[in-house]
Amino acid sequence: METSQLIESFNQAGQGHVFRFWNELSPAEQAQLADQAREVDLSEVARLNDMLVRNSKGAAVDLTDLEPAPFVSLPQNGGDAAQWSAARAAGEEALRAGRVAAFVVAGGQGTRLGYDGPKGTFKVTPVLQKPLFQVFAEKILAAGRRYGKPLHWFVMTSHANHAATEAFFVEHSFFGLGADRVHFFRQGRMPAVGFDGKILLETKSSLALSPDGHGGSLRALDRSGALELMRREGIDVLSYFQVDNPLVRCIDPTFIGFHLRAGAEMSSKMIPKAYPEEKVGVFCSQRGKQLVIEYSDLPMERQREVADGRLRFIAGSIAIHVFNRSFIERMARGADALPFHRADKKIPCVAADGSPVKPEKANGVKFELFVFDALPFASNAVTIETPRADDFSPVKNADGVDSPQTCRDDQLRQFVRWLRAAGVPVAADSTGLPPFALEVSPLFGDDEASCAASWRALAAKPAVAPGLVLG
Ligand code: UTP
Repeated sequence: METSQLIESFNQAGQGHVFRFWNELSPAEQAQLADQAREVDLSEVARLNDMLVRNSKGAAVDLTDLEPAPFVSLPQNGGDAAQWSAARAAGEEALRAGRVAAFVVAGGQGTRLGYDGPKGTFKVTPVLQKPLFQVFAEKILAAGRRYGKPLHWFVMTSHANHAATEAFFVEHSFFGLGADRVHFFRQGRMPAVGFDGKILLETKSSLALSPDGHGGSLRALDRSGALELMRREGIDVLSYFQVDNPLVRCIDPTFIGFHLRAGAEMSSKMIPKAYPEEKVGVFCSQRGKQLVIEYSDLPMERQREVADGRLRFIAGSIAIHVFNRSFIERMARGADALPFHRADKKIPCVAADGSPVKPEKANGVKFELFVFDALPFASNAVTIETPRADDFSPVKNADGVDSPQTCRDDQLRQFVRWLRAAGVPVAADSTGLPPFALEVSPLFGDDEASCAASWRALAAKPAVAPGLVLG
């Protein structure tokens, strides 16, 4: 579109102020602003303004007919052990056939952690201080070796961290995965608007744009050609996880097997909520569909409801999913679309007179898509229980809950459990923490069984323990 047409379309949409400083800009700045403006879907912004900004009722969440969602319990909590073994076998078969790829969403801004750099480069392990990306890479490498099929790994970045993320992988030789197996793509972005619905300028020559949420991953997978690559490679299942959770089993054959055996389009893991106020979304059913209701949308009296001596809405969502490629294709290309959510934020911008504004309180709205909103569109959705200690300890905040310290402790406890299960007498306090730091590399063992097998092999042939470090 010609620049004059572009400016006219913004005028028509009531967003012409975006070009207010046009005549003051250099040709390069004009080109940047025009390019960003071309990214904006003005009719989408108008629709979101109507639905979510001017009419905040449009954002109200429907809580009618809400029931707790069903889930498959762990064998130790009453689940059918034979079903769990059969699921594992089915998942292993799919991995041996090369049908599975890993997918991490790493486009977030990580504002709560306050770390300067892509969050995946944050150093997280207790002794070697491995970055998050390395932990995942080694788990994916280990799965590839175990099942005799190296896995592809898709990494979603943002405009802000794409170049730094790629450079980090190059610098670390892709952590042994092979450059041709790691695929980076940027997620989309959305303009932020003021409470009057006007698109905000970050500077005189740039829009206030931000990533479109982890739900943007479905359309970004399609747009980037990742789905096409999967199709060519015979991959039909994607194992989805977040960049801030080093405990996650990136590739969990049992989970994949449950998904495949149920003929599900999307599957999820749940942990029983520890207490009503715990800030995780909950899996619910509503008129035959499954969905996740965010903790902030479910009134506290409902979060506190008790049935059979435990929380009624107990199934906490930890953002670990398995998707069918065909389902993502449908969500990205078909009529079913994820809804946008409104987030009121402090958004640095320039005022009408060109002066910079550093707001002390929320001054505008960002629009975000959430990946779990795909759930109601999925056929045969399955949710399985997972032990929190084996799958979930995110690094969200600089301190307090879900911080580097709590995550380090949870890793240490996990390593102690694995070693003890292998017969290694490691001392630990009543919470399971050892008196010294230690670390098990995913390449030595990435669960109890693989750790024990490596330990046995080591005992049979004493040598320096590769991947087992005491600090
Ligand atoms: P969070 O909800 O924790 O958001 O993301 P965040 O942006 O990382 O952190 P805060 O809220 O600013 O502190 C959960 C996961 O979703 C990814 C993140 O990278 C993380 O893996 N994510 C989030 C995206 O990939 N894109 C987004 O637009 C938002």
